[in-house]
Amino acid sequence: ERDGYEHYMLKEINEQPNALDRTVSGRIGNDGSVSLSSFPPGTFADVRDVQFVACGTSYHAAMYAREHLIEMGVPAYTFRAGEYATAPAPADEDTLVVAVTQSGETADTLQSVRHARDAGARTLAVTNVVGSTASRECDDALFIRAGPEIGVAATKTFSSQVAALSLLGERLVEDVTGEPSPDRAERGAALRRLPADVQRVLEDSPVAKLADEYRGRDAYFFIGRGVGHPVALEGALKFKEITYEHAEGFGSAELKHGPLALVTEDTPVVAVFDGRHGEKALANVEEVRARGAPVIAVAGEGSRKVREIADEFLPVPDTHPDATGVLANVQLQLVSYHVADLLGRAIDKPRNLAKSVTVE
Ligand code: M6R
Repeated sequence: ERDGYEHYMLKEINEQPNALDRTVSGRIGNDGSVSLSSFPPGTFADVRDVQFVACGTSYHAAMYAREHLIEMGVPAYTFRAGEYATAPAPADEDTLVVAVTQSGETADTLQSVRHARDAGARTLAVTNVVGSTASRECDDALFIRAGPEIGVAATKTFSSQVAALSLLGERLVEDVTGEPSPDRAERGAALRRLPADVQRVLEDSPVAKLADEYRGRDAYFFIGRGVGHPVALEGALKFKEITYEHAEGFGSAELKHGPLALVTEDTPVVAVFDGRHGEKALANVEEVRARGAPVIAVAGEGSRKVREIADEFLPVPDTHPDATGVLANVQLQLVSYHVADLLGRAIDKPRNLAKSVTVE
C-alpha cells in the first residue's frame, strides 16, 4: 500500500509530481490562460473582495494565494477559520468567501462558511474531496485533484492547493480587474513545468545527508518574505508536527520585533527565498548570522549571493517566483521528514493530532 515507502508521508511527498500534473492538467493554455470548466471567464465579474478562510496548512496555501491577488489589485484577506468562526469579518453579496480545506470537513472552516452564507456572501470550496461537506455546502467547488492523502501531515495537498488557487487567482484577476496578469504567460509556463521541477527537487535534494547534523538543537526558526512567508510558516508547522521539536515560522520582517531575541548559535534558521525580495531577505539572513545562527537557505539554484552566505544551500530550479515557494516547500517537507525519521517519530500519526479536525 505504501509502495515500498517506509511512511505514507514520504510516499505522498514523492507523489507530488503526479498530483500536480492532475491539478493543472487541461486547465492552462499555452498563453497562460486558465480554463476551469465550472468557472468560465466572467464568473467572478461581480466580486469586489475575496476572503479566504482555512486552518493549518490550508491557511498557509491561502496566504500564498493572496500574494498574487493583492499584487494585481484584487482586495483579498486571509482569516484563520478558528477565529472567523467566532468573529466573522463583514461580508456581503459582493464578497467571495473561499474555504480552503483538503478534507472539506474541518469544523471551524465549515462554521466560517455558514457565517459567510448567512451574511449573503458567495461561497466557494477549494477541496480535495468530492462530496465533502464543504463541497456540498458552498455555492461552488474547485477540486484540487491531489488524490487521497493518508499521512496526518499535509504534503501533496498543500502543493495542489497552491496550484489550484493559482489558477483560480488568475480567473479572479481577469474577472475583477478586467485584465490578465501582465506575466500570465510566464506564470502559466511555470505552473505547467511545476511537476517536472518538483521531480528534480525530489531527485537532487541533499536533505537526507544533512538532517543528522542539525537534529537535537534548542529550536528551529523558519523565515521568509513574499510567498516565502507562508512557506516558512508551513515549514515550521510541519517540523513541529512530526519531529516534536520546537519550531517557529515568521515573516522575515517580524524578526527584529521580538523573535531575534531567541536566536543563538543553537537555533538553526531556515530562510526561504522566493526570488523576489533578494536584498531585504539577504539582510535578514545577515541579522541571524551575526547572532551565530546556522543558516539553511532554500533558493533558486542560480542565487549566487544566497549560496555564498548560507551554511547549507538547498537549491530549487529557477522559475517564476509564484512557483518557487512550492519547490522550496518540498525541500522543507524533506527536512521535517528526515529529521523526524532520525528521531524515530510516529511520522504518519503524530501524537495528539487527527487528520481532520471535526470539532470546533
Ligand atoms: O482538511 P483541512 O485542509 O481543512 O485541514 C486543515 C488542517 O487541520 C490541516 O491542514 C493541518 O494543519 C495539517 N494536517 C498539518 O499538516
